[in-house]
Amino acid sequence: MNKSERSFTLSETTENVMNPDPRSRAWVEVDSKVIEKNSRVLKNFIGEDCLLMAVVKADGYGHGAETVAKFALAGGADSLGVATLEEGIQLRNAGLNCQILILGNLINAEELYSSFCWDLIPTISGIREAIICNNIAENNHKKFDIHLKVDTGMTRLGCDCDEVNELISKIDYLENISLKGIYSHLAIADKDLGNKTQLNFTQIQLSRFEKVLKDLGPRNRLLCRHLANSAGTLSDSRLHFDMVRVGLSLYGYLPATDFESDLSLQPALKVQARVTLVREVEKGIGVGYGHFFKTQRKSKLAVVAIGYADGVSRNLSGKISALIDGVLVPQVGAIAMDQMVFDITDKPDIKTGQVLTLLGKDGEVSISPQNWCDLSGSIPWEVLCSFRNRLPRVVT
Ligand SMILES: Cc1ncc(COP(=O)(O)O)c(C=O)c1O
Repeated sequence: MNKSERSFTLSETTENVMNPDPRSRAWVEVDSKVIEKNSRVLKNFIGEDCLLMAVVKADGYGHGAETVAKFALAGGADSLGVATLEEGIQLRNAGLNCQILILGNLINAEELYSSFCWDLIPTISGIREAIICNNIAENNHKKFDIHLKVDTGMTRLGCDCDEVNELISKIDYLENISLKGIYSHLAIADKDLGNKTQLNFTQIQLSRFEKVLKDLGPRNRLLCRHLANSAGTLSDSRLHFDMVRVGLSLYGYLPATDFESDLSLQPALKVQARVTLVREVEKGIGVGYGHFFKTQRKSKLAVVAIGYADGVSRNLSGKISALIDGVLVPQVGAIAMDQMVFDITDKPDIKTGQVLTLLGKDGEVSISPQNWCDLSGSIPWEVLCSFRNRLPRVVT
């Protein structure tokens, strides 16, 4: 190709080069209406006396925080929960002006000042941060709303249950902060889900939280009290209090495999990738790094350009399958950074450019994050979060 031919070719295709089709290689598809519907289902389930917080941390569990936030609010969610200051600022920049609670701990004055300026509610576990918040508010002549976290058994963030009263008395002396909420987090509600008879740890956490509130006296009723994640929300209405904080169920998944729910929650996410090359190889040929798989027969293989850099764990190598035309085809060999191979010998009509579904529904069959977890020892939360890095996201 000479120089003039080359520049002609480039200028013709500039638009495509600048905006490649997000569905050309591999992508995550998020059905925004499903998020809205799940939010509505959950809101109806908890009833009108309880608020619904949509937990959209980690880029909305890999679904895209802005999309999830907007559609969850449209479906009836009242507020948003994030883990970090940056996640909160991102949502404010996207024009979301509802209440946003930062579930993580902000420890220095700069972060807390940003939180104040962006009207994000920080979680406080001790007097140190409360004093910083008070100083910020005093210097800026505006009250700073905060929520207090109590540790009822997660042994992570939060003050001890028996410190709450003293801490709140001290906070009450700090005139520029306004304690709006008190909360705790369940440690094993997903394991306890459905088990209502036995005294399980979730019930112990519930009793500890109730005691903290009782010891606060009538004051506790002025606060927004919250304890339940998805598992707590779905398992027992006594865990609901004034607000529930749901993540996984909003995205359409149940937090435990042995739990059955009548709620019609639907997964909102699909992970799909195109076949980039079809190969025919003889019996006994090693496939991919390490040659962990050797063909047992003359085989047809489909190379797909999605790998662990896109969020499919290498631990799943040789264990997962993907769907094409509603039929499962097995993945073979090591999952590499950017590619993996499927054995399509039993479905030989597959062509370059066809789409495989790695997660989600195709026809009557669907593959869920839990299916992957059963094979890798992961948890659905981790599987979902791993899609927030490289894959383009297509919102429908
Ligand atoms: C404090 C807090 N509340 C609620 C949630 C939502 O949990 P789930 O996704 O199980 O509903 C999380 C998520 O980890 C969390 O950290």
